[in-house]
Amino acid sequence: METLLVDLGERSYPIELGWDTLGDLGGYLRHLIPGKACMVISNSEVFNLFGATLIKGLEDAGFNPAVFLIPDGEQAKTLHTTASVYDALVAKDFDRNSPIIALGGGVVGDLAGFVAATYMRGVPFVQVPTTLLAQVDSSVGGKVGVNHRAGKNLVGCFYQPRLVWIDLKTLAGLPLRELRAGMAEIVKYGVIQDEDFFHYLEENSQKVFDFDQATLTKVVRHACQAKAFLVARDEKEVGIRALLNYGHTFGHVLETLTDYGAYRHGEAVAIGMIAATKIALELGICRDKSMLGRQLDLLSQLGLPTQWPKDLDKEQVIETMKLDKKARAGSIRLVLPIKLGEMTIKRMAPQEIEKLLDYL
Ligand SMILES: NC(=O)c1ccc[n+]([C@@H]2O[C@H](COP(=O)([O-])OP(=O)(O)OC[C@H]3O[C@@H](n4cnc5c(N)ncnc54)[C@H](O)[C@@H]3O)[C@@H](O)[C@H]2O)c1
Ligand SMILES: [Zn+2]
Repeated sequence: METLLVDLGERSYPIELGWDTLGDLGGYLRHLIPGKACMVISNSEVFNLFGATLIKGLEDAGFNPAVFLIPDGEQAKTLHTTASVYDALVAKDFDRNSPIIALGGGVVGDLAGFVAATYMRGVPFVQVPTTLLAQVDSSVGGKVGVNHRAGKNLVGCFYQPRLVWIDLKTLAGLPLRELRAGMAEIVKYGVIQDEDFFHYLEENSQKVFDFDQATLTKVVRHACQAKAFLVARDEKEVGIRALLNYGHTFGHVLETLTDYGAYRHGEAVAIGMIAATKIALELGICRDKSMLGRQLDLLSQLGLPTQWPKDLDKEQVIETMKLDKKARAGSIRLVLPIKLGEMTIKRMAPQEIEKLLDYL
């Protein structure tokens, strides 16, 4: 097992990265948190796979865990589900020191984190991410929240976990499509921060699908380190953390216009990264002509889509961008590549972007 640190002063926390470590969480947590009560939030798919191991470890360490299962899928990430978890916490006489443990993908993690942030103004929160996307992205950094009819992740806050517990072995049963979607975010880290890592992925990324332990460990470690670095410097995303949104402005448009039904988040990000690169080339911002081809090759090798759908209505695209909660005072913030490992953030008026959509 290895430890990475998210360095946030008194709110710093470790990311514990290991293989087959789910049963050891209880013993580790025993040293952090007194008392017996804790609540595991999960869904029945994930809990059937890993619940018994986690619960046994918690019980062996003297905890008396309650379990709350939410329905599977993005549709469950609502205030309505959140309220039902509060009811269960109240019924169990939970106090401010009792931890909430999220066991699952980003949906479970975002919702459980929001519950932990708000119940009694905040209780200890532990992330146990079980999808690749959650391990390399959503479990680290403290963005928690739920969806609203009017928009995804519209209700939420920053609330850092006490601990992120990554057991890479849990990825064994993950559907191929989910594994690929997680890889898109990993490619993103190569583009925004590290050409050597991008090159490593070009040479080695297939091994992830063979479930090679060394490769999985390397790519997840690298991604977590990159995210921890940016979060530690800019917790609330007023500056450099925004680089993590590479591919996301266009990606969110695709997700929204298809009602979150057509693309996994990572797939939309893959298409979004290619879109951002094409725009950067067109504007003369991108100085490395090979960047487009290298990303196209790598993403296709990973089985990810890269083609912007031809039939999207341009006006709708721009309207959706304007509604994105990251748009400020009418201008849209695009993260654009200069070369591999070097990015810039450019604010653009919607009309300017509209003119460029033909190049996608
Ligand atoms: N907080 C953040 O910073 C942040 C960042 C990125 C994404 N997100 C959020 O994350 C969510 C997407 O997360 P996701 O992609 O993990 O989706 P998800 O949580 O829906 O999980 C995907 C599917 O995999 C199943 N699953 C989970 N672990 C499994 C395992 N080990 N084996 C087999 N099946 C397993 C789940 O039950 C689900 O059906 C979105 O709501 C998005 O908004 C948040
Ligand atoms: Zn993302």
